[in-house]
Amino acid sequence: MARAREHWGSRIGVVFAAAGNAVGLGNLLRFPSKVALYGGGAFIIPYLISLILFGLPLMWVEWVAGRYGGKRGHGTTVGILGLITKNNLGRLLGIFGVAAPVLIVFYYIYIESWTLGYAFHSLIGQMPKPVPTSETSEALKPFADFLKQYTSPSLEAYIFFWITFLLNWYVLHRGIRRGIELVAKVGMPLLLLMGVALAIVIFTSKDPTPEWSAIRGLEYIWKPDFSRILEGKVWVEAAGQIFFTLSLGMGAIAVYASYVKEKEDIALMGVATASTNEFVEIVLGSAIAIPAAFLFFGPASIPELAGAGTFRLGFMSMPAVLNSLPLGFFWSFVWFMLLFIAAFTSSIALIQPLITFLEDEVKLSHAKAVAISMILVLIGAHLSIFVPGYIDELDFWAGSFMLLFFGIVEIIFFIWLFGPDNFIRELNEGSVLRIPKWVAYLTGTVSLAFLVIILLVWTFQNLPSVISQTGLGVWLGRATIFLFLLMLGYLTILSSREEG
Ligand code: TRP
Repeated sequence: MARAREHWGSRIGVVFAAAGNAVGLGNLLRFPSKVALYGGGAFIIPYLISLILFGLPLMWVEWVAGRYGGKRGHGTTVGILGLITKNNLGRLLGIFGVAAPVLIVFYYIYIESWTLGYAFHSLIGQMPKPVPTSETSEALKPFADFLKQYTSPSLEAYIFFWITFLLNWYVLHRGIRRGIELVAKVGMPLLLLMGVALAIVIFTSKDPTPEWSAIRGLEYIWKPDFSRILEGKVWVEAAGQIFFTLSLGMGAIAVYASYVKEKEDIALMGVATASTNEFVEIVLGSAIAIPAAFLFFGPASIPELAGAGTFRLGFMSMPAVLNSLPLGFFWSFVWFMLLFIAAFTSSIALIQPLITFLEDEVKLSHAKAVAISMILVLIGAHLSIFVPGYIDELDFWAGSFMLLFFGIVEIIFFIWLFGPDNFIRELNEGSVLRIPKWVAYLTGTVSLAFLVIILLVWTFQNLPSVISQTGLGVWLGRATIFLFLLMLGYLTILSSREEG
């Protein structure tokens, strides 16, 4: 006899859990860096268009997919797409909805552990101080050195990794309601509070140089700039950010949705998830890191800070700014705890798809499914920690390519194969909102075409240079992806025979 499926305890719990899933390092680190890198207001236009055109529709697709599958005992896209094709083709395509999140967590969880280490250092007042000079990179030199202890791991970094890893294990072991939901119900309000407090601190700080104000930072982000609107790269990056930040195109939202009660209002849940995420992203995400850098280092520093990857703004310029303020150690602690909570509620969401897969398809017990998943995460994380180049290779395939590809697959399955009428009926069942039918038609045509174009542009722009890379990290990254897909494929075929 099948075990009864666990359910979220309350509606507000679902909202917090799903928001915790979506709100992560993407909102507070990746978003400001991309905005700065692609020229502020030039990035925001394609970003908002992507949000409306396929962000919200795909969010609904995943909620529909999840509740539909959950009712029938399947929480991951392996089982769910299999329900639609009634054969192994759907099940095999569905493995991307388990593989992508787990491949991402291999490095995500390591970066998450940095935030915990930094929070600890801030609290005990042991963060470096910026060098007093007007040269941005020189001022940040002590922070660059500090970051090296984490990028090429010190014993301390390794210890914080283990603490983070065990916390993830513990919460996932406690399960949906007593683990994930509880953490989200405590963490998300705290996160919002801390984010608002930091924004206030930054906007009320005195400008060291009068013409560099935090407000100018906001202006830089939000003043529309049409000069780069025709650049393919800006569109690709904006679309990629929408996928990443909303946790779309990897079945992760569907997994959470599969644990709702049968009559849950999923149309509303989709809107709530997307809007909470966007509040944290475009309000808090743009009111903290960039304005702070504007305030202290001036506008000229922004491209430089963003250029060297996602980490400079968050791990160098932010602590430099905050530690120069009165009570700086405390604000620095708040900033890194904010990042930690955001990352923690996302990393558990990245691992849950594998656990759900092992329970629903392979029919393992919860404790066993959690243990096996965590051991795999442990192995992958060690490669991320110790092998240079590994993280980039995974991020490229799992963090960009698979999401776009799988987003397209999800639309084809849930609009074309399932049918627009069925889709809208499922979406509106139990809903107070009435989502009109044209939404399904728009998703199946315009949004789909847009995604296909983005994927093609992306492929032409990036594939040649990525394929030509070599090195241990690159090959280990590829081997990991290959072996992991193979393992999931094997388990999928094996388990479908028993279904009969
Ligand atoms: N949305 C998360 C962030 O902004 C990252 C993420 C991408 C994610 N895909 C996910 C989290 C799947 C959980 C599940 O940081």
